[in-house]
Amino acid sequence: MRIDILSVVPELLESPFDASILKRAQDANSVEVNIHNIRDYSSNRYKQVDDYPYGGGAGMVLMIEPIAKCIESLQAQRKYDAVVYMTPDGQQLNQKTANHFSLFKNIIILCGHYKGVDQRVRDLFITDEISVGDYVLSGGELAAAVFCDAMIRLIPGVLGNETSALTDSFQDNLLAPPIYTRPADYKGHQVPDILTSGNTPKVEQWREEQSLNRTQKLRPDLF
Ligand code: ADE
Repeated sequence: MRIDILSVVPELLESPFDASILKRAQDANSVEVNIHNIRDYSSNRYKQVDDYPYGGGAGMVLMIEPIAKCIESLQAQRKYDAVVYMTPDGQQLNQKTANHFSLFKNIIILCGHYKGVDQRVRDLFITDEISVGDYVLSGGELAAAVFCDAMIRLIPGVLGNETSALTDSFQDNLLAPPIYTRPADYKGHQVPDILTSGNTPKVEQWREEQSLNRTQKLRPDLF
């Protein structure tokens, strides 16, 4: 999978991709992440990428020209399955969306900043708009990192234990069961006996029950 991320503050995207699973996935060539500075596509002498909104109002708007140039130069090199805009008014990200996008070969992700992008960018280039929740971030970069993390860990081979993404919360619309590790007794707080019994079928049954109970109690809307 190849992901191209467009941003006016690419520094914000450095560390999320430079550690842990996202770094390992890139080192193993499971995913290639390219970060593009929209400013590099500005034809303006001052590398200007934003301007005042027509009709007045607070905040600046990202201009169409540098964004269009960047997207068009990428699209001239390969075919993209989706051009995603990160925005609080997009479709809310969930595990189903992450699964859907993780199957794509090439994706462009555009991060908004300031008040957002000129509407014509959305009309002309964007195929999907995604939000990470009903709150407003300073830009789309952290949202893009969240979206990429959710997608990349689902690419086959990225997680060491292939089954571990399948047992994540939400993967089957249920929350994950509680998990424990050593010591079995922490100041009198015991690990449930079933987990140390060695009875694998019973452990599986217990986990399923716990998942159902937790979901019913904490997220009944998922049923
Ligand atoms: N940009 C700003 N806020 C956002 C959000 N909640 N989701 C996606 N992109 C955003």
